[in-house]
Amino acid sequence: MKKILSFALALLFCISAVSTASATSQQDWDEYWTKAESQQGVIMFAGSDETERNFSWYSAKESTPTVEITVSGGATKTFTGYCVKTYSGDFANKVTATGLEAGKEYSYVCKSEGYTSDAYTFKTENDKSFSAIYVTDVHVSYDSENADSLKNCSLNFNNVIESAMEKNDDISLLLSAGDQASLGLECEYKAYSASPYLRTISTATAFGNHDRKAVDYKTFKNVPNEKTNNLVGEYNSMDYWFVKGDVLFMVMNSNNGSGIDHHNFVKEAVKTNPNVKWRVMMFHHDLQGGRIESREDENKFLRLLWGPICDEFKIDLVLLGHSHYYTVSAPVYNGEKVGSVTANGTITDPAGTVYMVSGSINRPRELDDGEIPPLGSNIDIEKLTSEKIYNIIDFSENSITVKSYTLESNEMFNSYTISKTSQNGGHPSKLPAFYQPIIRFIGTVFAFFNNFSTYDRVKNNGIEAKLSDFIFVH
Ligand SMILES: [Fe+2]
Repeated sequence: MKKILSFALALLFCISAVSTASATSQQDWDEYWTKAESQQGVIMFAGSDETERNFSWYSAKESTPTVEITVSGGATKTFTGYCVKTYSGDFANKVTATGLEAGKEYSYVCKSEGYTSDAYTFKTENDKSFSAIYVTDVHVSYDSENADSLKNCSLNFNNVIESAMEKNDDISLLLSAGDQASLGLECEYKAYSASPYLRTISTATAFGNHDRKAVDYKTFKNVPNEKTNNLVGEYNSMDYWFVKGDVLFMVMNSNNGSGIDHHNFVKEAVKTNPNVKWRVMMFHHDLQGGRIESREDENKFLRLLWGPICDEFKIDLVLLGHSHYYTVSAPVYNGEKVGSVTANGTITDPAGTVYMVSGSINRPRELDDGEIPPLGSNIDIEKLTSEKIYNIIDFSENSITVKSYTLESNEMFNSYTISKTSQNGGHPSKLPAFYQPIIRFIGTVFAFFNNFSTYDRVKNNGIEAKLSDFIFVH
């Protein structure tokens, strides 16, 4: 039986290799995997805006890391960062490069004690248009019974990015809506970062519930404008924002229900960037989409908490994950549909927020006992598939176009465009209901007590941690 299964899997792999344009082969990836450069976890995160980039990589020794950046045909500048000890005893190096000029090509080398990276290149935008890849639930997974699990998960992820880059070589950002790792372990984040593409385009990751199973996400990330003055903190990660083109990206930690903190964060981010036309939010938990019965109580509360924040601050698009089920909602305001999104259609000045969930890369969801799971009533488009879904999003001053593909088919299966003719588009400007602060307060109290169970879960996963680190603000 096992032999038949392996033969079938091998055959499936061959078929997908044929239909997927020119993906990196298993053999090439196996060879790359033996090289140091695949194991250092070098990754370039988005900076606060286009003039900045944040770098991160691991090393065995403690030192003061630097990144040497050379503008094409010009001078080299050295940026110095800092080094933090990771849970496993390695060190994570963090460097921010600032003062980058628009419309230039840069090369860079990361240096820490005993390590000099290969040279990588990236470009800065010179106008308000750019393209991004949006994926979620990449689920790079450590498996003690499968030595190749990390390698194979990272190959799948690499080939998703490669497939997108082949369709659009102007892509300069990767948006990953949480569950980058399945157990939240450093080895998984290193494997997540193995794709060389993550050194030429910027990455922004949201903190998923699986990332929360351990404490290594804290030292993996190097994100800009992270909120620190919370009433109720979170050990690994809190909300952060950055601006690219004409888009304010707000990346939220939806594991933490502290409504007061999230509301304050969004208010401040919007106030700091008043003239940025588009507001895009990304977080992990699915609000409107593919239902999982056991999660529905939690989802109802999350809709009550997040929906009014998206309404009040006129969020145009929310990118989500968690349910591993591709869905695109209608524009939603006050929990109700206020229009519709159609396949290959354009919606102009919608009077609400569109919520989108992509599928998982390494853990695609199957039908529930052969049945399609129920959907929320606000969903306009859905696709449940065992194939790996990715999306290319074209951002411009007047529109956001989302195009969705599967790696295996190499074909686009859906697209839609949101266009806005003014800063506020069709978003209503109503005052929030009087009881909203009460809901946010309840969320904040819940978040405080939830940190005790997060601590317990992490301890039960064999991680030595201090309760005070989980309870008090960081
Ligand atoms: Fe997930």
